[in-house]
Amino acid sequence: MYNITVLAGDGIGPEITNEAVKVLNAAGKVFGIKFNFQNALIGGCAYEKYSNPLPDETIQMSHDCDAVLLGAVGDWKYDTLPPELRPERALLGIRKELNLYANLRPVVIFDELISYSALKPEIIKGTDVVIVRELTGDVYFGTPKGIEVRIDEDGNGVRYGYNNMIYSEKEIERIAHVAFRTASSRNKKLCSVDKANVLDVSRLWREIMIDVSKSYSDVELTHMYVDNAAMQLVANPRQFDTIVTGNIFGDILSDEASMISGSLGLLPSASMSDDGSVALYEPIHGSAPDLKGLNVANPIATILSAAMMMKYSFKNNEAYELIFNSVKQVLKDGCRTKDIHKDGDKLLSTAEMGDAVCNKILSV
Ligand code: IPM
Ligand code: MG
Repeated sequence: MYNITVLAGDGIGPEITNEAVKVLNAAGKVFGIKFNFQNALIGGCAYEKYSNPLPDETIQMSHDCDAVLLGAVGDWKYDTLPPELRPERALLGIRKELNLYANLRPVVIFDELISYSALKPEIIKGTDVVIVRELTGDVYFGTPKGIEVRIDEDGNGVRYGYNNMIYSEKEIERIAHVAFRTASSRNKKLCSVDKANVLDVSRLWREIMIDVSKSYSDVELTHMYVDNAAMQLVANPRQFDTIVTGNIFGDILSDEASMISGSLGLLPSASMSDDGSVALYEPIHGSAPDLKGLNVANPIATILSAAMMMKYSFKNNEAYELIFNSVKQVLKDGCRTKDIHKDGDKLLSTAEMGDAVCNKILSV
C-alpha cells in the first residue's frame, strides 16, 4: 500500500492527474498494489481558498507520503499578483521544501509519432536523451533579487530588475553525481551544458563536473555552451545521451526537446532528492488555462510521470514498462489527443486516452 499525495493544481491539472490516477490504479490491479490517494491544493486554487498558493497543509501532506503526483500550476488571471502569491511560487516552494534538486526529464520518442514532430524523421528517429536538470538553485532561487529604484548618474531614479545566478560547489557536486549515475546506467555519455565562456557560475560548474568525473571512469564527459546545445538539440539530437545542466538552461532546453517528440504533452519528469526521500512526479508542460475543462488535453506526459513513479519511488520496473508499453500500444492503434492529431487518426478526449491506456494495462 502506497500513500500518494495528488497536487492537481490549476488549468488542465485536475484532468490530467485524474487520468494518471486511473492508470496507477489499473497498474496496481495487475501487480497487487493498493494506492491511497489524497488530494491537496497548490497554486491558484490554493490561493483562491487560503490566500496562499502553498498552504502548510499541502507541504505537510507532501512530506508525509510515499510520492507526490503533480499536475500543473498557473493561470493568466494571477499574472498581476505580487510574486510571492503567484502559483509558480508554490511550485518552486514545494520543490525547495522537499529538496528536489534532481529533475530527470527523459525525451521520449515514440516511433508511432515520428511523423508528428516538426523535425524531419531522419533527424529524430532513434533519439533517446535524458536531461538532468538541477531544480533548487540557480537564478530561480538566488539572492539578492528584486526590482528597485537606483539613482543614475544624472540623479534620476531608474528601476532595476535583477536576479542572481548562483551555485555553490556542493549544489553542483550533488547534481553531478546524479547525472553521472544516470549516464552510467545508459550509454555512458554525459554532456554538461553551461555558459562558461561568459559566466563565472558556469566556470565553477564546469570545474566541479570535471572533478566529479574522476569517480566515474566509465562515463565520457563533454561540455557544450548552452546556445550551441540549443542548436545541436534540433540539428542532431541523436548525438546526446545524458545532458546535465542548471535550472534555467534545463527549463528552456527541455521545452525545446519536447518538440523532438512531437508535443509538449508527451514529456514526463521525476524530481528527486537524496535516496529514501519523497520524490515528485509531474509533466514538464504547464497548466494550459485555455484548455481547462475542455477534456482535450493530452494526459500522456502525466501518465508517463506516474510510470516513472513506479520505477524510481517504488522500484517496480515491470510496472513502469507495462504503463510505458501500454501508451505505446494505444498510439500504435492510432489513438490521438488533439495536440497530436492528424486526419485519419482516432481523436480521443483526455479521459478517453486515459481509459484506453488503462484497458491496455488490464488486457495483459
Ligand atoms: C517547468 C515549468 C516551471 C519551471 C514553471 C511553471 C515555474 O516551466 O517545470 O519546466 O520554470 O520550472
Ligand atoms: Mg518549463
